[in-house]
Amino acid sequence: MSAELPICCATGAAVGGPCYRVLLWEQGALPPEAWAAWQQQRGELLAAMRDAGIRGARGRLAALESELRELAARLIASPLTTQPCRRLSYARAEALAQRLSDSPEVLGYRLSAGGAEIFLSLGGGEGVAALCERWCADGAEPAWQLPGLVESLSPQAALAAQAALSAESARKRAEAAAEQSAAAQTAPFHHVTVLRREAVELLQPAEGKVFVDATLGGGGHSELLLQAGASVWGIDQDPAARRAAARRLAPYGERLHIVAGNFRDIAALMRAEGVERVDGLLADIGISSPQVDCAERGFSFLQDGPLDMRMNPAAERSAATLVNELPEDELADILWQYGEEKASRALARRIVAARAQSPITTTGQLAALIAEVLPRKGRNHPATRSFQALRIAVNDELGALDALLRDGLSLLKSGGRMAIITFHSLEDRAVKRAFERLTRPEIDRPEWPAPRPNPEYAARLITRKPLTPTADELAANPRARSAKLRVIEKH
Ligand SMILES: C[S@@+](CC[C@H](N)C(=O)[O-])C[C@H]1O[C@@H](n2cnc3c(N)ncnc32)[C@H](O)[C@@H]1O
Repeated sequence: MSAELPICCATGAAVGGPCYRVLLWEQGALPPEAWAAWQQQRGELLAAMRDAGIRGARGRLAALESELRELAARLIASPLTTQPCRRLSYARAEALAQRLSDSPEVLGYRLSAGGAEIFLSLGGGEGVAALCERWCADGAEPAWQLPGLVESLSPQAALAAQAALSAESARKRAEAAAEQSAAAQTAPFHHVTVLRREAVELLQPAEGKVFVDATLGGGGHSELLLQAGASVWGIDQDPAARRAAARRLAPYGERLHIVAGNFRDIAALMRAEGVERVDGLLADIGISSPQVDCAERGFSFLQDGPLDMRMNPAAERSAATLVNELPEDELADILWQYGEEKASRALARRIVAARAQSPITTTGQLAALIAEVLPRKGRNHPATRSFQALRIAVNDELGALDALLRDGLSLLKSGGRMAIITFHSLEDRAVKRAFERLTRPEIDRPEWPAPRPNPEYAARLITRKPLTPTADELAANPRARSAKLRVIEKH
């Protein structure tokens, strides 16, 4: 995740009591000499005031406090990049932001390098110091310097601060969205196509033939189909993939049709496009390299990013939703069923305990929690299986594959072929079973006197055993290591 952007946020709370501006900073963020000198001067001033019956030095005390406030404000406003050693960890900032957003007294706040500026309106009850202490004590670690600096504000000043934060927040959001979309338009899309030649040759493309590539991705397979003179309908649920494929395959003009959607709806998607039957269907299941390599997409435990994992960024549930909201036993079932994770129960228990303290919002947080429960053994990171499981659950990958296997065949013309590339045993098992059901002329059961005709029999197996990448392909692209290609042909 990029930690370059300060988090700036305005809440909708209303002014309704004494108002304050509070500055908090991370322990160690303010130069210790400055903090010590300030405390010493303040101590001396207070002692002098006590000796003089608390008279005379109020102006100097106020000036001293405002000096420190300025120092802290400069620190808080400084960009994160310029002070790498004092960088406020994004996860910690998010945890504080969550607590501030949940506090009805908070008018608005800004989190930045090593600190926080918070505007409050207290409706009674708790005092400022107690409130700050509660926010900070709720955190997993006592990271904030307490007591923070507190300045009393008039309601007008508090309202003005809230309006300014609101405007700043809106401007930052608009800038970030513009930057993101500019980056997405131009970002290179590096995905090395797996079993490219094998899959396309078995689909027998030729001029005039029509194919559906149900997992368009960067368009590597589609490109070969188009080069053979065929037309392609390319489906992908990821807008970044559709954009990349559109750029790469632009030279093929009207022979390429890009369709936004999930291949679980393949029949409806093709019907809507006016396509009734095709000569071949290809699915190269799973995620693309750009999805896993981009920290912002939240698929990788190797890079810190938001805990997302949605192939379709508009989908409702992200990995953070599952991790923070599912009951413990459902979470454990996901880790067990989709990740074959033996420690699923212990991991789910640890996750539920951690999220009770503060929500788990980043891949780094989750990977660290998993590593606490499962010390690293061997080459694989202990989070590998859990991240795979969550990804499969977030995108309902097995449900979508089942729907594709059920509806794909009906799209094929007689003699049309379906080629599916999978990357883990759960997917391959589903494809193998579905293809067996469709290609077995008869079925037999121990209780039957003789085999009976199979009502689902509709195709023949083209690959008796799955095709796997050659040693040369594996040497060039280790990510292809678990790929398996299975192909059938409709009668
Ligand atoms: C392995 S990549 C395909 C790469 C492509 N064959 C190439 O050579 O560039 C898989 C792609 O399928 C997409 N995808 C996965 N599941 C999908 C689904 N259920 N519906 C639509 N797209 C899906 C992903 O977003 C990703 O872009």
